[in-house]
Parts: sequence; structure tokens; C-alpha cells
Amino acid sequence: MVGVYFSGTGNTKYCVEKFLSYFNESQPISIENPDAVEAIKKSKNIILGYPIQYSNIPKIVRDFIHQNGTIFKGKKVFIISTMGLFSGDGAGCSARLLKKYGVTIVGGLHLKMPDCIGDVKALKKSLEANQQLVKNAEDKIKNAVDLLKRGKPTQEGLNVFYHIAGLFGQRLWFYGKTKNYTSKLKIDHKRCIGCGICVSLCPMSNLSISNQKAIPSNKCTMCYRCISNCPQKAITLLGKKIIEQSLIENYVGK
Ligand SMILES: Cc1cc2nc3c(=O)[nH]c(=O)nc-3n(C[C@H](O)[C@H](O)[C@H](O)COP(=O)(O)O)c2cc1C
Ligand code: SF4
Ligand code: SF4
Repeated sequence: MVGVYFSGTGNTKYCVEKFLSYFNESQPISIENPDAVEAIKKSKNIILGYPIQYSNIPKIVRDFIHQNGTIFKGKKVFIISTMGLFSGDGAGCSARLLKKYGVTIVGGLHLKMPDCIGDVKALKKSLEANQQLVKNAEDKIKNAVDLLKRGKPTQEGLNVFYHIAGLFGQRLWFYGKTKNYTSKLKIDHKRCIGCGICVSLCPMSNLSISNQKAIPSNKCTMCYRCISNCPQKAITLLGKKIIEQSLIENYVGK
């Protein structure tokens, strides 16, 4: 079994790691790592994790599946999708894609985690509420592992009712948001000190430094990683001001 994931601010990585820990498997591998393709080729059973964006798969994950479609043929995939509140068919989105490449979908698991959109006040919860979300997700993971081991894997996000909920609950109205990479990332140059942290973290190589200021391009997959790690809180995407930088380390082990 191998765990493969994409994670902007650490939620999904944390959940896939937790899941795999009950199987004594090695650490999961990010799709950003060039070794991910070889790891998938070598393993029959795959745990695939990603965060939900507007009830859809992040563009970087969709592209990874399409670009490497043939290596998935004949694999058995269990899908973990993390979200702030609601996805409808979060696991189903990639399940439908993967089936086209000859994958057998074993199961799906939806996990509510702290919302990573740090620049929209309405989505922010208290530290205690976020810590509780993580604890609940940990319990849910343990339960899902037990069920998988007993041959009754959870099927969240996979049937037609989830599909309808995801489509009409959100995806239909926001489909354009995840169709392409975005050029909407904003950097406040009055705050930016040109430290380059955002440049080194971006999975899309979407940032560069010019005249000691960070400059965004048009390939942002909206993962919120740079936004959550900028020491100057200089980066925003959906909102105008950072309310709280969301990182999994803030919510575990406290
Ligand atoms: C652009 C964007 C859109 C999002 N859309 C949704 C959504 O539709 N439903 C939801 O419950 N959470 C949504 N979220 C929240 C994330 O799915 C959630 O915080 C996830 O656990 C982040 O995982 P990560 O830390 O692995 O990146 C969205 C986050 C971003 C950045
Ligand atoms: S992390 Fe923030 S301060 Fe550092 S270069 Fe990027 S935008 Fe500027
Ligand atoms: S620019 Fe920031 S939010 Fe966009 S993909 Fe890169 S790290 Fe993620």
C-alpha cells in the first residue's frame, strides 16, 4: 500500500499519514515529489488524499491524474478528501476520473478539518474548535481503518446522492473557479520583505522575486500554502486581509 497526496497547508498530509500509520506503512508521498509516479507504479493499493476546493478537486491533482493516467490502470484506490465544511462528493470527483483510467475504487472518506482559507473572516473558527475538528477527524480515520480492515470500507462521496449534493450544492455554480489555474493571487508590496519563503514553498513555481519583492504569475492552484507561511502576512487570494494563517501544526499536539 502507498499513500499519495496533495496538501496545501498540511491537513490532508496529516490525515493520510494517520490513516497509513494503522497499517505500519511508510510515509505517504506528495504528488509534488517526482518519486510519486514510481511509488504508484510499484503498488497495487493506493490511498489518495487531497483537499476539496469548491466541491471539486484542486487543478494540480486533476492534472496529475490526467498526466499519469496510464499508471493507475488496474490499481485499487481508497480516496480521502479533506474539507472545511462540505464537499458533497469530494471523493467521488476523483473516483469518476480514476475509473476512466481503469481504477477500482475501494472506498471514500470525507474528513472535516480546519478551513485553510485564512483571509475570509466568515470561515474562521476558534483555536479550540479547530483542535476539536482534528480530534474528530482522527477518530473518524481510526473507525474507517477498522472498517477497511474488516472488508467494509467507507463509501463517502461515492454514490449518486453525494454526486447530486456536490454538483448542485456548490460545483455547478463555482465550476469556473477550479477549471484553470488562477492569476488572482495578490501580494502587498508594502509588507513583502523579499524573503523568498513563498517562492520556495509554492508547488506550482508560481512565484518569483524581482527587486526584492515577490511577484505572482498565473499558475496558482489556490493551495494557500504561501499565504499561510508568509511571515509578513503579505499574501491574499479570496479575501483582502489575513485573519488567521492556517497550518496543521497549530491544531495538533497542543
Ligand atoms: C480555494 C479553496 C476552496 C475551498 N473550498 C472548500 C469547499 O468547497 N468545501 C469545504 O468544505 N472546504 C473547502 N476548502 C477548505 C479546504 O478544503 C480544507 O481546509 C482542507 O482541509 C485543506 O487541506 P490542506 O491543508 O491539505 O490543503 C477550500 C479551500 C480552498 C483553499
Ligand atoms: S513570503 Fe511574504 S514576505 Fe517573503 S517574499 Fe513571499 S510575500 Fe514577501
Ligand atoms: S501561489 Fe501560493 S496559493 Fe498559489 S499555488 Fe503557489 S503556494 Fe499555493
